Amino acid sequence: MSRLTLVCVEESLAAGIEALPGHVVVRLGSDDLGGLAGILSSADSPDVLVLGEELPLESSLHFSASVSEHHPEVEVVLVRDVTGDLPLRALRAGVRDIVPPAADAEMLGEAFSRPNRLPRRTTGESALPQTAPGPVHDGRVVVVTSPKGGVGKTTVATNLALAFGKDNPGDVVLVDLDLQFGDVDTMLDIRPHHTIADVFDGSGAFDALVMRTYLTVHDSGISVLCGAPSPDVADRISGPDVGKLIDELSRQFRHVVVDTSAGITEWTLAALEQASNLVLLSSMDVACIRGMRKEIDVLAELGLMPQARTVVLNMADRQSGMKVKDVENVIGVPVDNVLPRAREVHLAGNHGAPMVLSRRKSSFSKGIRHLAEAIQAQEHVRHHRRVELA
Ligand SMILES: Nc1ncnc2c1ncn2[C@@H]1O[C@H](COP(=O)(O)OP(=O)(O)OP(=O)(O)O)[C@@H](O)[C@H]1O
Ligand SMILES: [Mg+2]
Repeated sequence: MSRLTLVCVEESLAAGIEALPGHVVVRLGSDDLGGLAGILSSADSPDVLVLGEELPLESSLHFSASVSEHHPEVEVVLVRDVTGDLPLRALRAGVRDIVPPAADAEMLGEAFSRPNRLPRRTTGESALPQTAPGPVHDGRVVVVTSPKGGVGKTTVATNLALAFGKDNPGDVVLVDLDLQFGDVDTMLDIRPHHTIADVFDGSGAFDALVMRTYLTVHDSGISVLCGAPSPDVADRISGPDVGKLIDELSRQFRHVVVDTSAGITEWTLAALEQASNLVLLSSMDVACIRGMRKEIDVLAELGLMPQARTVVLNMADRQSGMKVKDVENVIGVPVDNVLPRAREVHLAGNHGAPMVLSRRKSSFSKGIRHLAEAIQAQEHVRHHRRVELA
């Protein structure tokens, strides 16, 4: 049971919060603010103070800083749409979380039960989350690509990130760079408060602290930069922006895993410019295998083929009528890893319960762990090449 005090929270949102089970809620309007200091100092002071939209932003931030200093045991949640440098200002003011005014019951429940989205700032303490790795300046950037859609990029990227994060999940960030139809959040069953769209809407986008506020921490502990809620967002994001984003993340995390959309888009090229390791994925489908041959040629021509490259065949089964040797003959390079087709992989994707967590002993999970180990054994050199699309 936690005590929430709502200050100047708009009626319908307040009603939504009151309907949440497990909380005792006290509402205060703007006329009651004089009594707030007394409430905060009383024996039954709130666990969470929710500052609504009807309280001016500047006053809310000022107030939050003061609560953070004098009542560090009280968590402050701000009700606001995230714009510009708000996350950074909120973070500096000790705000624990930001909830949009249109939040539904599930989002509210998450905000009040998992109060770890913004790191709490107290005097003399680092503003970074406890789990945050120190800046490493040389993270491994693993980009997962395929010439065709539906061959398992998101499945492999997600499971690979979880495999990298097995021992140190705080070292891993998974980026959904399928800007139009990203579905990493579905694969991981997470409901992000912020997405890659917010990164590019915010003015302080590449500030390390701000960036952290846009990440969602999965239950496993890995961080995720989720895909945009609408395909239009892609129009506002340029290749160079994506390059800067990945570069910044590689300074903050030891492993950056990037899921991409099918084919070679300008965003995938930008990611490849930052890549230290490339995973080229194909199914055992003739068109996809031929496509991979072309992709290898194009990337080599552009000088975007990292030294550390891994060719992975996913959905391998006997039904395809092809053998790994046949595939190698078409693509002209050896296949490094083979991941089996299995119904459970499909089901795990649908249920948001990735294989390496839910079916650790399966052949698919073993294959992913081998892949993760093989990539970790590769060197990770980043060349930072620039390529313009004609
Ligand atoms: N090894 C596998 N065995 C069985 N099903 C698989 C396997 N790998 C992926 N799948 C399933 O295939 C479908 C497509 O996978 P996924 O979404 O990962 O592909 P994708 O390449 O990211 O697709 P898109 O290009 O549309 O983003 C999903 O339903 C997924 O669960
Ligand atoms: Mg995908």
